Parts: sequence; structure tokens; C-alpha cells
Amino acid sequence: MARQAIILDCDPGQDDAIAILLALGAPEEIELLAITVVAGNVPLGLTRVNARKILELAGRADVPVYAGCERPLVRPLETAEHVHGETGLNGAVLPEPTTPLRDGHAVDAIIELVMSRPPRTVTIAAVGPLTNVALAIRKEPHLSQRLRQIVLMGGAIELGNITPAAEFNIYVDPHAADIVFRSGVPLVMFGLDVTHQVLVTGERLAQLRANGGRVAEAVHGLLDFFNRFDMERYDAPGAPLHDPCVIAWLIDPTLFAGKDCPVEIELEGRSIGRTLVDWWNTDRHPANATVMREVDADRFFTLLTERLARLQAL
Ligand code: BDR
Ligand code: CA
Repeated sequence: MARQAIILDCDPGQDDAIAILLALGAPEEIELLAITVVAGNVPLGLTRVNARKILELAGRADVPVYAGCERPLVRPLETAEHVHGETGLNGAVLPEPTTPLRDGHAVDAIIELVMSRPPRTVTIAAVGPLTNVALAIRKEPHLSQRLRQIVLMGGAIELGNITPAAEFNIYVDPHAADIVFRSGVPLVMFGLDVTHQVLVTGERLAQLRANGGRVAEAVHGLLDFFNRFDMERYDAPGAPLHDPCVIAWLIDPTLFAGKDCPVEIELEGRSIGRTLVDWWNTDRHPANATVMREVDADRFFTLLTERLARLQAL
């Protein structure tokens, strides 16, 4: 795949942090135009700091960070400190960033970056609630036609993780997700069905640490903390490493397999935030997303470890 220009919209979060680092470790495949942050795992006041902490850890303060929406479109914000800790980056003690946020709102930055480039050349990698992305689509009516694709972590064919029916990113802002899934932009969805196959086992964690250096130490601390809650909850040998799946696919799509399906977002009742994936196309509706379901987890971790090793020399 040719080198892709991406905007990474995120809510760091430990797994968001690893997604940022993986993107930085793939300069041949990924041109990281900007990071836009949203409220999600922790409030915006922390996600906008955390993104810059991670960039400075990797010596990449040149990547612009724009702050976006501090709450979902309709519902009150729900956060996930029970998973990520009170800072969102518990497990690593990182210095306060010295680089300022860029001026302007993330929604305007997304519009400007996409509309100023040739049509269908910019990808949005979205690994938090979809509030910023949906608002950009609403604000600029031509944005949908100009985007190459939106590759997102969110939803599930089967079980949820924040309610029995819903995955966290979609649940936090289902109305934004509904806008995105109806936008007509080519979508690639990495839901829990696939991310729960990508587990941070003790052996994989040790390999990441063996890269050596300050990035490896921070990655180890972050993921060691991140493992605690999910290993107990799922009785699994490691936590699912959700968000880096999006970046790994942009680097090497052969790691994953899925198929094109119609996907709707439930907006009411007990299953609000559920992604209703019509895997067998029972309704005979047109597909609006490529839904990933399989991954080669060993190759994923080999890629991750190799790419993060490139950041160690700093
Ligand atoms: C998603 O929610 C957040 O906790 C993670 O960062 C990931 O984006 C998983 O449901
Ligand atoms: Ca996230």
C-alpha cells in the first residue's frame, strides 16, 4: 500500500498511546498529519495533555495536536478511569508536555487538512468516540466526498464491553457514530471481535520491553497497568490491545481479514450504542463498512515490536 496521509483522532488512553507510537514508527507507510483529541477514556483536559506527552516521549513534538470536543453530541460524557486510571496514562510517569496545543478546534483542523489536499488522499484513523469526526462531517458537507476512508476502532459483532450490547467508543457517542456510519465514507471497522484476539500476554510484554530505552520502559509500564483490569475481567492472559489494530492495518492490511457488511447504530433503549452488524446480509441492505473479524496476532505483535524499536534510539 502506498504511503498514506492520516489524521489520528483519539482519546489517550494507554492503547491510544501505543497507536500513536506505532504510527510514528511507520514513516514509510504513514504520514501523520495531525493528532486530534476528543473526550472519552478521560476528559478532554487530560487527552489533550496525554497526546503531547506521548509525542514528546518519542521526540516528535513537531506533530500538531488539536483539541476537539469535550462532550458527546447528545449524551453526557462517560469516561473509563476504571480501565485507564485517573490520568488515562497510568503506569508511566511522563513529564508535562512543553509543546503547546495548536490554535483552533480539532473539527476545523480536520476540515482544513482534508479539504486542502487532493480528493481521497486523507484517511481518518479514529480510535475514540466519534464526536470530532461526526461534527466535521456535519460542518463541511463536502468532507465525506473528499475523504479517502475512515478506519475506526469501535463496536462489536458480538458482545459489548461497557454494556452487554455496546463497545465503549460507540456507546459514549452513539449519535456521532450514527452520522459516521451513514456518511457514505468508506469505513473499516475494528470491533471487539478482532481486538480481543490481540492480547498483551506476559511474553509479548517482555519482548516490547526488551527493545530497551525510555520508550520501551514507558510502553511496558502503560501496558502492564492496562493489563490489570481486563485480565481479571475476562480471565484472559492479557488485555486486548484495541486501538493499535487500526494503525497496524494501515501498515500491513494482510494481518487482518473481514468482509463488507451493512452496519447500523442502535440509538435507543438498553442496547444504545450497539453496532448492529448484518454479517450474513439478512436485510439485503448495501454494505457501509468493511468489518474485521480475524487477525494474525503473532504477526501483529512482531510488527508492533519492530516498529516501536525504531523509536528507541531517541
Ligand atoms: C476502546 O475504548 C477505550 O477504552 C480504548 O481506548 C479503545 O479505544 C475499546 O473499547
Ligand atoms: Ca481509544
